[in-house]
Amino acid sequence: MSAEIISGTEMRAAILDELRVEVTKMKEQHGVVPGLVTILVGANPASLSYVTLKVKTALGLGFHEIQDDQPEDITEEALLQLIDKYNNDNSIHGILVQLPLPKHINEEKIINAIDPGKDVDGFHPVNLGRMVLGDRDGFLPCTPYGIQEMIIRSGTETSGAETVVVGRSNIVGKPISIMMGQKGEGANSTVTMVHTRTQDLEAHCKRADILIVAAGVPGLVKPEWIKAGATVIDVGVNRIGMSDSGKAILSGDVAFDEAKQIAGKITPVPGGVGPMTIAMLMKNTVKSAKKHIEKA
Ligand code: GUN
Repeated sequence: MSAEIISGTEMRAAILDELRVEVTKMKEQHGVVPGLVTILVGANPASLSYVTLKVKTALGLGFHEIQDDQPEDITEEALLQLIDKYNNDNSIHGILVQLPLPKHINEEKIINAIDPGKDVDGFHPVNLGRMVLGDRDGFLPCTPYGIQEMIIRSGTETSGAETVVVGRSNIVGKPISIMMGQKGEGANSTVTMVHTRTQDLEAHCKRADILIVAAGVPGLVKPEWIKAGATVIDVGVNRIGMSDSGKAILSGDVAFDEAKQIAGKITPVPGGVGPMTIAMLMKNTVKSAKKHIEKA
């Protein structure tokens, strides 16, 4: 039997429709529209394509959107000053600095400089700390937030389920491992986080009722590692070539065609987690604007 495909593209459309209603209401009742600045340093092709999509989505929702592109050789000091400017700009509720940054800039220093109340990426230590404490007042990091939302909206039972997370990055593996084990909706599961030093990756994957793969290695998870009926979330976005028209050919971390014959539900690449990350960025920005209204 073929797995149900969890479409991130369809879920994103539903979430954006929900947000559009909120944005309209906010504008009518308070005269405020969510404000988002996206800062791209340099012209990394993958980053440029992500930022372009974020900007397009924000504009489509009627946000006040500033696309602030900076040259590759901007100094760390100048970037810190730019962040300070947006920290103090009342029309901006969300600040996103696209990662990775050039090597001469300390990423940690830049993330730490963003006002935690405008850190809609959820990367600031204050927001990560709040997430660990289960405090829903902060911002959840967008990719894990999107993964959890997909799991909930797909109707997957998480309570008591064995969740295995492949990868331990600060952006995905680490936060989603914590989120899936917490109390609450779309959580309460028993979590194992595996990584490059794990001895028997296959054995762990085979136990998973929910398998979340964020390793960045195309085809890492073999079809025979998947438990029959499992929900498989593939976070990998690997550029494995270029089409004749110059578009990147993407592949996930899971051998999709074979895996979908075994899994119960599975996300495709592209069209899975990627669109959800953007939807959750918009959701965080709307949440930030709402908090700004409440404080005013
Ligand atoms: N680079 C890869 N993913 C992300 C993301 O979610 N946010 C930012 N700012 N940079 C990224």
